[in-house]
Amino acid sequence: MKKIFANMKMNLTLDEIKNYINDTSSFKKDFVVIPTSIYIPYFIDNNYIVGIQDISKFDNGAYTSNVSAKQVKSMGIDYTLIGHSERRNVFNETLEDVNLKVKKGLENNLKIVLCIGEKLEQKDNYKEILEEQILTVFEGVDKIDDIIIAYEPVWSIGTGLTPTNEEIETITDYIKSVVNKKYNKDIDVLYGGSVNEKNIESLNTINNVSGFLVGGASLNKDKIYKIIESTK
Ligand code: PGA
Repeated sequence: MKKIFANMKMNLTLDEIKNYINDTSSFKKDFVVIPTSIYIPYFIDNNYIVGIQDISKFDNGAYTSNVSAKQVKSMGIDYTLIGHSERRNVFNETLEDVNLKVKKGLENNLKIVLCIGEKLEQKDNYKEILEEQILTVFEGVDKIDDIIIAYEPVWSIGTGLTPTNEEIETITDYIKSVVNKKYNKDIDVLYGGSVNEKNIESLNTINNVSGFLVGGASLNKDKIYKIIESTK
């Protein structure tokens, strides 16, 4: 069975979240829900497996709006996304920031879903781009057991476009080989970017992908259910 992560981003109101919990609770152990952070307590109280969309690169103190890895751990949250392309491209987070966040997450025993991916204009140079992202972010990181990489081509997020299965398989192999060269270990790689209830059956046939990071389609109970069922 592949792992499914639901990145809800900045969507849904409280009433909609309550309905979502009502509608998804029968399969709540089959996926990791990553809601807008203010709603996390509702999911925890209902025994979901929960992730947060980002953590601070700082430990604690005067950093208005940030949430530290230690605070996240103290809430009983298991996972954190780090380095999502919206963080990097909309909020100008650098690979050095991502590196600091990965270290904070690991120090506090969080499981990390590290997002990497090339922009459309970088597609032909994906090897160089992904290698730089991986090596910068893993600088000074000596244990990768709690890290999963999510390969998310930026041009595929929210656009309805996906690479071909062959491309995803080749790039996933490449990512694994870069990590393997540094750590002599296999790392799990997820695919993310316009995964939906229609393309999941085909995407699910890609052998070296360990699961999927689902954005838009995860907001709809029927779609996320279908995605989970197709990967069982
Ligand atoms: P999408 O988003 O499924 O809406 O393309 C994926 C993501 O950003 O993680």
